Amino acid sequence: MTAALVIVVSVYLLALLFFRDSTITLKFNREELKNIPLRVGRGFLWGSATSAHQVEGGCTNNNWFLFESAVDAQGKPRIVNGQKAGGGADHWNRYRSDIRLMKAISLNAYRFSVEWSKIEPREGVFDDDALNHYADVVHALRLEGIEPMITLHHFTNPIWFEQQGAFLQENAAETFGRFVRRVVERLGDSVSLWMTINEPTVYALNGYLFAEFPPAERSPQKAVRVLRNLLRAHTEAYRIIKEIHPQSQAGLGINFFVFDPPSRLNLLDVVSARLITRGTNESLLRYLKEGIFEFGVPGVARESYRSGLREAFDFVGLNYYTRFRARINPFAERWANPVKNYPPDCSTDMGWEIYPEGLYRAAKVIASYTAKPIYITENGIADERDTRRAPFIEDHLLVMNKAISEGVNIRGYFYWSLLDNFEWAFGYTKRFGLYCVDFGSQERTLYKGSAVYPAMIKKFDR
Ligand code: FCB
Repeated sequence: MTAALVIVVSVYLLALLFFRDSTITLKFNREELKNIPLRVGRGFLWGSATSAHQVEGGCTNNNWFLFESAVDAQGKPRIVNGQKAGGGADHWNRYRSDIRLMKAISLNAYRFSVEWSKIEPREGVFDDDALNHYADVVHALRLEGIEPMITLHHFTNPIWFEQQGAFLQENAAETFGRFVRRVVERLGDSVSLWMTINEPTVYALNGYLFAEFPPAERSPQKAVRVLRNLLRAHTEAYRIIKEIHPQSQAGLGINFFVFDPPSRLNLLDVVSARLITRGTNESLLRYLKEGIFEFGVPGVARESYRSGLREAFDFVGLNYYTRFRARINPFAERWANPVKNYPPDCSTDMGWEIYPEGLYRAAKVIASYTAKPIYITENGIADERDTRRAPFIEDHLLVMNKAISEGVNIRGYFYWSLLDNFEWAFGYTKRFGLYCVDFGSQERTLYKGSAVYPAMIKKFDR
């Protein structure tokens, strides 16, 4: 009996040891971080980011437009308070003055997305006016010395594509590729940084597993199928971009899930954190590196795909916000229950933990896969009271600096977001902007806390 117990305990402990992630305990001391000289490489990009649907206004021909008027099975609107993106921050018309706002806070880069549903409103029919609009935006940026990075897919699909089944379709990559070709042919002369697809895992999980994005399904098999097809679409887009402009740089935007076990002694917690990390971040990084995507959880979902192309990327776009802790129970209806054991002051208006160490951990994991450049393509805080914005920005930049000082090849930082905007299922209730937007008058005002961003940029440039 005692021998059996000893064996069970030993196996349990060994398994804990095997699956444990030793970086969980990482805790930085602010003063020590401040002692590391602030240094970035020449040509470092200091930017902010937006996406078309969230700021432009007038996106009435995509899947989100339909979703914003839809209700769930209980008759509840899909978006908080039944809000709709509507006129957005009117960035479509105000981009020139918004570019001046970037300039005013010392930014030299801007990441934004082109809206597929405006450019290809019907299948195979392209709108030159829409393409010309984006060419004007690029031109205006260049005049101010601001480097554009264009995202080709940021969560939204034209209605015609959505109705065909979007990225569930086997030929989705080719359909997306046709659009990519048009955009790159039109804008490629003056754009050299392309993000093919923003956050494939978030799109796939929120749309097909958690029912928070259109088409609001709850099917693990579909979620994994969509993820696989988004990765195919990335490779197709990459191939096309490089064919047209071999000198340009293209990458994938990965929302890096730092997912830690609520208890480090609970084997189920530890193993599920490990598997989630593997299924999300690591499966994407492996795909980029080897061209192989494999996902298999018996009885849940299984997919695999080999693109035949290794290293089909020039940079990794790292989107980092927080760390997640959730207890997994595959037998419960709600199989992932978030565990939040941090004081409210250490969280954002999204209820997300403020955890700068996670940015370092994410960058290190990426660097263990590739020496190619990393751009931090999103990092930011929803903070309506503006009490945590300044320390959030400062701490994340200090942590980034630490990673760079240890040799991680980070070439740019894009704060999410330039402007308050339509935060998907949360509507206008979350304020991520450097600039506060009054959605009635469209007036923009710099949040006090945002001033730390240009101040830090100057310190780095010294
Ligand atoms: C990311 C999205 C971006 C924004 C931020 C808060 O997942 O890419 O559009 O919503 O979260």
